[in-house]
Amino acid sequence: MPARNLEQWSQAPAGLKPGEYVDSRIYSDHGIFEEELQKIWKRTWVPVCHESELAKPYDFRTLTIAREPVIVVRGNDNRVRAFLNVCPHRGNMIERRPAGSFAAGSPSGNPRRMTCMFHAWQFDMKGNCVFISRQEEGYQDRLCPKDVGLRRLRCEVYFGGFVWVCLDDKMNKSVAEWAAGCLDCLKPALDEEPLEVFHYHKAIIPCNYKLWHDTNCEFYHDYLHYHNRITGFNDAYFGRKNSGYDNGHITVGSFEVQYDKYEGFESRANVSFPNLPPNHWYMIDMFPGANFNLRGSALRCDLMTPLAAGKVLIEFRGLGLKSDSPETRKARIEHHNTIWGPFGRNLHEDLLAVSAQGAAMDSRADSRNILHGRHEDETIHDENGMRHFYDEWGRWMDRSPSNPDLRYREGHNQPAA
Ligand code: FES
Ligand SMILES: [Fe+2]
Repeated sequence: MPARNLEQWSQAPAGLKPGEYVDSRIYSDHGIFEEELQKIWKRTWVPVCHESELAKPYDFRTLTIAREPVIVVRGNDNRVRAFLNVCPHRGNMIERRPAGSFAAGSPSGNPRRMTCMFHAWQFDMKGNCVFISRQEEGYQDRLCPKDVGLRRLRCEVYFGGFVWVCLDDKMNKSVAEWAAGCLDCLKPALDEEPLEVFHYHKAIIPCNYKLWHDTNCEFYHDYLHYHNRITGFNDAYFGRKNSGYDNGHITVGSFEVQYDKYEGFESRANVSFPNLPPNHWYMIDMFPGANFNLRGSALRCDLMTPLAAGKVLIEFRGLGLKSDSPETRKARIEHHNTIWGPFGRNLHEDLLAVSAQGAAMDSRADSRNILHGRHEDETIHDENGMRHFYDEWGRWMDRSPSNPDLRYREGHNQPAA
């Protein structure tokens, strides 16, 4: 076949149906991006960190969900709670540090209180306003601290100790119900004993957040990863199932990785997670943008914060067992970093690929078709994971991913190209 002229290039390949390709504008259009924040990110459960990062009472972390500033804190009753990190007085962001502790005082903060630096209002770890500076002088008896508490957010600690937050009070599902069974393959391994974060780094990547989701949920791109080809690419690898769950979630089934096939690597069986067959490897991709990836001895978790149509903040965490001996922890860190560290055999390769996709999908570029049309019995090189994700995306957005100018139902009724 010759290369195509503009008109041919603009058409999806004959034989592919809507749903088997998406329009690149869903990755680059500013209006669609803003709509996603409102319609999806403000309404779903988002994992934001791990409880081991809030190990002691008064520990906190800050973050944003759909541009809303959020703070998670551990109270002196040991419970983790989440609040909008916004002062009820004049809307200042209360805490600016990414993480820390309120246990000790500071020049502009009382111990064991969240203190807004602007006019020194103070809040306890349950979000109650407990002090208004010069209250009687200014408000007489017209304003009571109990009426100006923080905005409380839905918060759960679930699945190996991850902290989940939802901005929508009307969310009618628990995290377990929202997960719809997709976490079950890893629950026995993660819930057996407490976990601990041993690796954290974050990166701002010049691509749409969904491109990072896509590369995590399809393994057809293992052609990019020499290490995966050498240690996988056998019958068990090609038999791994790619399964969809309600609410847009996906899992990739396990197989035994042949680490010793790669020069300089050896089996990781002796430090595999509890209740996991040695050297096995499961992956979970949750809608709209969280990934849990357990390669036997180390758990990786990617949490995404979309910043713009072409920009995503990704926080990468590595986790082991809290009970690890120093030797075991050292082995887990080495196993994590040789695959997922900056000089490892995997992560930067994915980052290169999605950055190149992002560069080609600049918001001013013409739209083009992105193909998700492989069918291989829902196994590892099938693209059913992406089709499942974008079908869910279409319902939340009421847009057809194959033609976002059409509503979801209209897009379904389009004939094959
Ligand atoms: S804005 Fe926070 S105390 Fe005034
Ligand atoms: Fe990859």
